[in-house]
Amino acid sequence: MPEISLTRNPAYARHGSNIGQPNTRHEGAMKVTGKARYAADNHPAGMLYAVIAVSTVARGRVASLDVAAAKAHAGVVDVMTPTHKPALAMHPHEKNNPFMFRVDLLQDDQVRYANQAIAVVIAQTLEAATEGAALLAPRYETEPARADLDANESFVPAAVGVGAPAVHNHGDVEAGLAQAVQRIEATYETPAQYHNPIEPHAIVANWDGDKLSIDTPSQGFVFAQMRIAGLFGISPENIHIRSPYLGGGFGSKGMISGPQILGMMAAKLVGKPVKLVLRREQMYGPVGHRSPSRQTVRIGVDGTGVLTALSHHAKVASSTFDDFFEPAADVAHTLYASPAIATSHEAVRLDTGTPLFMRAPGEATGSIALESAIDEAAYACGMDPLAFRLKNYAEVEPISGKPFSSKALRECYAQASERFGWAKRPLAPGQMRDEAGFRVGWGMGTAVFPALMFQGEARAVLRDDGTGLMETGAEDMGQGAWTAFTQISADGLGLDLDRVELRAGTSDLPDAGIAGGSAHTATAGMAIHNAGAAVIAKLAALATDDKRSPLFGAGNAGVVARSGRLFRRDDESRSESYVDILTRAGLKEIEARGKSASDPAAQANYAMHAHGAVFAEVKVDPDLGQIRVTRLVGAFAAGRVINPRMVQSQYLGGMIWGMSFALHEHAIIDRRSGRILNADLAEYHVPVNADVPAMEALMIEEYDPYVNALGIKGVGEIGITGSAGAIANAVWHATGKRVRHFPIKIDDLIDAL
Ligand code: MOS
Repeated sequence: MPEISLTRNPAYARHGSNIGQPNTRHEGAMKVTGKARYAADNHPAGMLYAVIAVSTVARGRVASLDVAAAKAHAGVVDVMTPTHKPALAMHPHEKNNPFMFRVDLLQDDQVRYANQAIAVVIAQTLEAATEGAALLAPRYETEPARADLDANESFVPAAVGVGAPAVHNHGDVEAGLAQAVQRIEATYETPAQYHNPIEPHAIVANWDGDKLSIDTPSQGFVFAQMRIAGLFGISPENIHIRSPYLGGGFGSKGMISGPQILGMMAAKLVGKPVKLVLRREQMYGPVGHRSPSRQTVRIGVDGTGVLTALSHHAKVASSTFDDFFEPAADVAHTLYASPAIATSHEAVRLDTGTPLFMRAPGEATGSIALESAIDEAAYACGMDPLAFRLKNYAEVEPISGKPFSSKALRECYAQASERFGWAKRPLAPGQMRDEAGFRVGWGMGTAVFPALMFQGEARAVLRDDGTGLMETGAEDMGQGAWTAFTQISADGLGLDLDRVELRAGTSDLPDAGIAGGSAHTATAGMAIHNAGAAVIAKLAALATDDKRSPLFGAGNAGVVARSGRLFRRDDESRSESYVDILTRAGLKEIEARGKSASDPAAQANYAMHAHGAVFAEVKVDPDLGQIRVTRLVGAFAAGRVINPRMVQSQYLGGMIWGMSFALHEHAIIDRRSGRILNADLAEYHVPVNADVPAMEALMIEEYDPYVNALGIKGVGEIGITGSAGAIANAVWHATGKRVRHFPIKIDDLIDAL
């Protein structure tokens, strides 16, 4: 079986390599000094403010709105309601592809979830719009809300995630369980989680006839353009989106949301530019969230500690009006080498907004259950959890049998456990205390995330002044994507970094695909790389075909591009600058385009994933039950690292979210009203600096030549997947109590101390 090498391939050692350097963010200083202009910082002349009035019930209909009172308020210009709004070309619940999600645009008086928009007040000031919205004083005909996983009939969805089968059987799980010496079956519950990027969804929309220009955060321009074009009956080219900076996205800005479209409608209604910014609590409904889940994992192990069966069943939720089913069980397809694997999903429809993409949708949710269950199985066999994983991790993708980078996973286990000091760990729980008497526990988890790639395009330009330009409609959610893309551009163009300009972040540039699925660096990066190669080929032809060039006739030998010069590959004493080549040809500039897409031949033969291992230490106060994570060490292998500083940030951020998943985040839903009780950053807990312990993310070098020519995998989502389980397992090791619902709280532990 061919293994993917960990050694440095010679192709890595490029001339003048910018790739691999820990450059800081280009726009970092602008951001911290407040000079970076986010969507809501825009104030076109004559702009009005729109405020959404949202439903305070989760199910029913709006019986009345006091529009007259709102309109009578000083400064209020108009009130958009189901009976007073611009006409749309398409019903907002029409759906003609799985990536088209239903939105609520005041199409009727029905309330489908709490925080659904029921009207939009447009005014001269934000204060007037806010006051106008309060004066609407809605009355409702309310029906009982279906708020939790048992509140409605369950069914097997037609698909989970985006088009994945809901049920998957590989081998005979029941037979595998029957022959097992040890069997465990455990059920885990995870709560709904809601999106809390620092920047809420915001839009400044401006119409000029049937042309629309918008400032709004977006993780994907073309999807947004297509959606908006369909709704308003205009051509996608008529929609200009500017999204140079995002204050986080995490999937919530992947698809254009209902409130953003309401901002466009409001601008159309009043014929002026309109700004609409969601308040924090208004994020808890219309912009996607992570579904709650109840997951049952069954594992069989033979007398030698080898898995005989693995079954993972997940119950998840969607809304009453759209389909997105978190593919929580599917993580069991990729991690452990069981001869029999069964995964299945069932779903209920709740009176909530539609759950959608949230960082590692499916993988994160499923991983905390699977990694907890693997830990339970290891203990059932009396085995150390690392030894158990080393015995059972998959050398090839278990279901397809395709090879993947299992060597990298082994290296992650080895380096992270060494760094953490795992060998000193007592097997039995409840054995360790620190000098202050706190109970100490160590746990681990395996991390995995698919290495995806979408389609992208870039345009490269070389100019006769020795500078280069790279254009691609890539998004930077704040993770430093553009910094990495500039590094790839510099290498692709054979120019020093300070000679290269990257243009990105607007929809009029070549389509770079969606910044999601941890696939943006591979997708946009490969488009940039290919565009660079194409323009260099053009430049080289100008030289090698020209008798006056020192490179004349070098066609077969080939040339190398470096620091603005082309060198003959077999004789570097013969070279010529880009400036001289272009000037002699009488060209101000030359350009070329490059495209990227995953390679179907490679995909047919190889499984593509990033891998990792995370080790956690927790301390539990024996009197108060308070849980502190004191150490987290992760090691991740995700192909080629473009910028180690940014990659490390992504790993650390993912690990922090893993901690959040295990110990903090919990959208508490009132079963009577269907409202979220903690829809704000005071009560919806996320880790703050004081919660974040000593953390380390080790980057494991990996050369995977099959994913794409640059060997790039994704780093944005994998960090969350191993970390949540590692922390849960550490809590068990500290206390001897296995908590199977998340987040783990003080009151779960108090009787175990
Ligand atoms: Mo991510 S949930 O693919 O933005």
